[in-house]
Amino acid sequence: MALTQKDGFSSKFGVIAAAAGSAVGLGNIWRFPYITGENGGGAFLLLYIFFVIVIGVPVMMSEFVIGRRSESNALGSFRKLAPGTSWWLIGLMGIIAAFVILSFYSTVSGWTLEYVFQSINQGFEGKSMDQLNSDFETFTSGSFRPLLWQMIFMALTAVVVLGGIQKGIEKATKILMPILLVLIIAVCVRSVTLPGASEGLKFLFEPHFEKLNFKSVLMALGQAAFSLSIGMGALITYGSYINKDTPLLSTSIQVAAADTLLAILSGVMIFPALFALGVGNTGGPGLVFVTLPAIFQSMPGGTFFAVAFFLLVSVAALTSTISVLEVVVAYLKQEFNISRLKATMIGTISISILGVFCTLSFGPLKDNTIFGKTVFDLMNYLSANVFLTFGALFIVIFTGWILGKSNFVDELNKSGKVNPVVTKVLFIIIRYIAPVAIGAIAIGTFFIEGLT
Ligand code: TRP
Repeated sequence: MALTQKDGFSSKFGVIAAAAGSAVGLGNIWRFPYITGENGGGAFLLLYIFFVIVIGVPVMMSEFVIGRRSESNALGSFRKLAPGTSWWLIGLMGIIAAFVILSFYSTVSGWTLEYVFQSINQGFEGKSMDQLNSDFETFTSGSFRPLLWQMIFMALTAVVVLGGIQKGIEKATKILMPILLVLIIAVCVRSVTLPGASEGLKFLFEPHFEKLNFKSVLMALGQAAFSLSIGMGALITYGSYINKDTPLLSTSIQVAAADTLLAILSGVMIFPALFALGVGNTGGPGLVFVTLPAIFQSMPGGTFFAVAFFLLVSVAALTSTISVLEVVVAYLKQEFNISRLKATMIGTISISILGVFCTLSFGPLKDNTIFGKTVFDLMNYLSANVFLTFGALFIVIFTGWILGKSNFVDELNKSGKVNPVVTKVLFIIIRYIAPVAIGAIAIGTFFIEGLT
């Protein structure tokens, strides 16, 4: 088999660890809570879960199928499966999306490293939410420290990606993701036992549909795509490293379930604390960086938890950033026939340059806005709501109409026959339901609300 000599994942658990490692990251712990907060809580959560099931899983499976069938990168796979057509442009859009995502993601990843450092120095001790809030603002509005951490983070990402698939990506994720889950559960327990915590749970779980507007629907879809790592070819790239014995259907479901569980647990961690500790602020990128230190302070062994927690959030971010960088590296390496080292250097350096603008968006470049958004906000918004949404749209159209049912089903059946009713329903979703739904939401929102 082709993959035996090539670098690739060694087992199904390895695939799940790496794909869940990609999926679980700042999207769950940092982005999900504040986006949910800004969109009113419970009803948004339901919408989010609905999109994960109906759109997320089918798109994820499509990406795995495209990647494994072509054994190629995000762009090369379309060239291989639809030669002589323009479908490779979707791959190109994915490569651009990788730049957009990693530029702002590395900013926030850098913040998590700063917070590891601050936890070690017991920098949160005895501080009120207001103080923690102003500390966060002071730190992020600087230049040197946030940039330094961002660059350290990009370097770490490059080092793992240089290690290749099995020895780098797979090994790191297998060990660290389970530890993260245990710690998150511990913090959830503390959060929900704070006096006054129930308001937060109500906010997260009681649906108030009147709080949703049209844009929330796009935000929920975008957040689902972002959190599942779909829509830009990261899972096409990982798919090309999956061997034929790995069942793609159950893998996709398990990864999506793990990712959704972690998003919900992050909500359970944040909202009760937010309500119990009583600051009305339910939004903004600073949400977890202010709320979590506040929880740690009220925990026995708080310093230990704070250090361990921010360290593991950094790791979760790292297992996501490697999947984004790998998209660019696999593309450069395969399409331009250059070494992994060279590809990694080119990708890392060019993304870091764009990243500087995102990091400085909280300080010196605060007032330099485009469409009323800072560079950071614009990248953050465009990534999920434009790039990944349209990426997901074109990926399902490609799978449903170009790749076709027989190829799709054949690839799913490689590791043992999947129930034909299941594949039939899946394919109907991929061919008709998902494209119409994503298209209607994306285009509808832009007509009603404008691009941003
Ligand atoms: N899913 C990751 C998170 O939630 C982010 C991420 C990693 C991503 N790879 C991706 C998002 C590819 C979109 C596409 O933190």
